[in-house]
Amino acid sequence: MRYPQKVLDDVCRQVDFVEYVKNFVDLKPSGQSWVGLCPFHAEKSPSFFVSPGKNSYFCFGCQQGGGPLSFAMKVTGRSFVDCLKDLAERANYTLPVLRGGQKEERVNRAGLFEVMKAARDFYHEILRSREGQEALDYLLGRGISKESIKAFGLGLAPSDWDRLSHFLSARGFSTSLQEQAGLIKKSQKSGKYFDLFRSRIMFPVSDDFPRVVAFAGRTYKPGDESAKYVNSSTTPIFEKSRVLYGFDLARPFIRSGQVAFLVEGYLDVISMHAAGLKATVAAMGTALTQDQVNSLKGSAKEIQLVFDSDQAGLAAAKRALPLLYNADLDGRVIRLPSGHDPDSYIRKFGSQPFLELGQKAQDLCDFLMEVLVSTNSNTVTGQGRIISEITDILSKVPDLAKGQFLRNRLAERLSVSAKLLPLKKFDDLKKAQVLVKPLPPVDYHPLAGRLLELLIVYPQNQRFITEGLVEVWPQDRTKVVIEDFFNQIKENQGQAQIRPEGFLHSNDALIESLVAKALALPPRLNPGESERLVESIIGKFTQQAEIKRNKEFTEAIKRAEAVGDYETVNKLLAAR
Ligand code: CTP
Ligand code: MN
Repeated sequence: MRYPQKVLDDVCRQVDFVEYVKNFVDLKPSGQSWVGLCPFHAEKSPSFFVSPGKNSYFCFGCQQGGGPLSFAMKVTGRSFVDCLKDLAERANYTLPVLRGGQKEERVNRAGLFEVMKAARDFYHEILRSREGQEALDYLLGRGISKESIKAFGLGLAPSDWDRLSHFLSARGFSTSLQEQAGLIKKSQKSGKYFDLFRSRIMFPVSDDFPRVVAFAGRTYKPGDESAKYVNSSTTPIFEKSRVLYGFDLARPFIRSGQVAFLVEGYLDVISMHAAGLKATVAAMGTALTQDQVNSLKGSAKEIQLVFDSDQAGLAAAKRALPLLYNADLDGRVIRLPSGHDPDSYIRKFGSQPFLELGQKAQDLCDFLMEVLVSTNSNTVTGQGRIISEITDILSKVPDLAKGQFLRNRLAERLSVSAKLLPLKKFDDLKKAQVLVKPLPPVDYHPLAGRLLELLIVYPQNQRFITEGLVEVWPQDRTKVVIEDFFNQIKENQGQAQIRPEGFLHSNDALIESLVAKALALPPRLNPGESERLVESIIGKFTQQAEIKRNKEFTEAIKRAEAVGDYETVNKLLAAR
């Protein structure tokens, strides 16, 4: 599977390319563009241009040119996929998950939602039955009320190997669907299916519709030494990095108060809700992601991160800070007394003291600085470590303005000049000149290159892009470009301007360079002049196509005559 062209186009369009290039090249503004010393060849005066509007670069010295992907691959020497992922992250863009094309079409999403719902009901009934008494006692003993059990749809997976599977099969769900939902698995040994969740208290996880998309199962039997939680694996309807536990129930409360509490555990969410703190969600037992933060963006202005210890809090805060900044959300930190998590704190002290902690919650930047300063020694080395931690955080805020703002703010907290907090630079710049392959010699029709340039630089010439032009165009590597332009015009019913940017990451270095150059060139001819040039080149193409056709015609006649095939000769002549 490959990423669709549209994804590459979107990533390349959305990334702040100038900012990215600045990691490698000292760029100075120059008119509409930015200019600097080319990283791909040695030079003393700058001939490397970056056009911010087009997200393209071109060096008038060595002719290297293209878009963000082509630049990233050349300058870092990393693979296409690595560079795409890196650029996507900087653009705050979530790449689609690639799966086998055929398989994806066969996925029955509606069926998956159905089977998950049936499983939830099954687990819930078991918890309410006599069989569930021990699990129920465990929950009640932990202060989880029957109301909470109902509100969160908690359940119990029985200890048998295949009860769920039998139940679902009897309801008409195929084993293949159950397997795709991550509920059952085939045993390598016996070839039989078995339930993945057994002897566990079940927490259904919903998306924001809400539909059940996953489960978390927690051990509850004394002496059960297996992993405390087992979580659903990735399925066509579930990616843990996109879901927040409790969000379906919390959303109206987050919206009304504009604040969301972010805790760590499933049980923390349930206890908080039970205590009336219903604007609470948790990440799925993994580090917070940009997607999760973005999903809060629509409802909240501020996220209050609840940390149980400064140790764990530091890592979480470092991770969260750029994510919140990228989503335009304020962050504050609630620090619980040591030994407490939200669940235990609230059960001991109640919701009022928790809210008071919330009122006094510390700004996320301040928290981060305080912990960084207190955990690093006040030596040059210690200070250096702090700077490098901050540099790392700053490199994750792609937006230039926000990044600068954050930089100044962190510098102020640290009482150093912001200049000391560099934006992250790649160390492999020095290698770039060695990595980049020189361009192959131009092997396309020189007039074809010139004509493409005239069509890109002077948009009014795009009316010449017709089927007839495509027909007479020389058969070389530039032909795909004119074909694409023609298709664009057909699709847009001649309305919008053609976009050549897709060819900036075309896998053809000569075409990338050609298009990048055209995008970098300022229009120098007046419209009349450029039009006359276009017309004269098209005239040449038409002539050459005609000559070629005549030659082919004569050759075909000759071939037929040579073998005495006069029927063909007559046919050819008649067709003329
Ligand atoms: N977690 C997990 N797998 C584990 C342990 C933890 O996925 N083996 C995740 C779960 O999302 C869990 C969160 O990390 O909710 C926090 O872990 P922890 O505080 O240990 O769990 P709690 O949910 O608080 O459960 P309990 O209070 O019952 O220990
Ligand atoms: Mn806990």
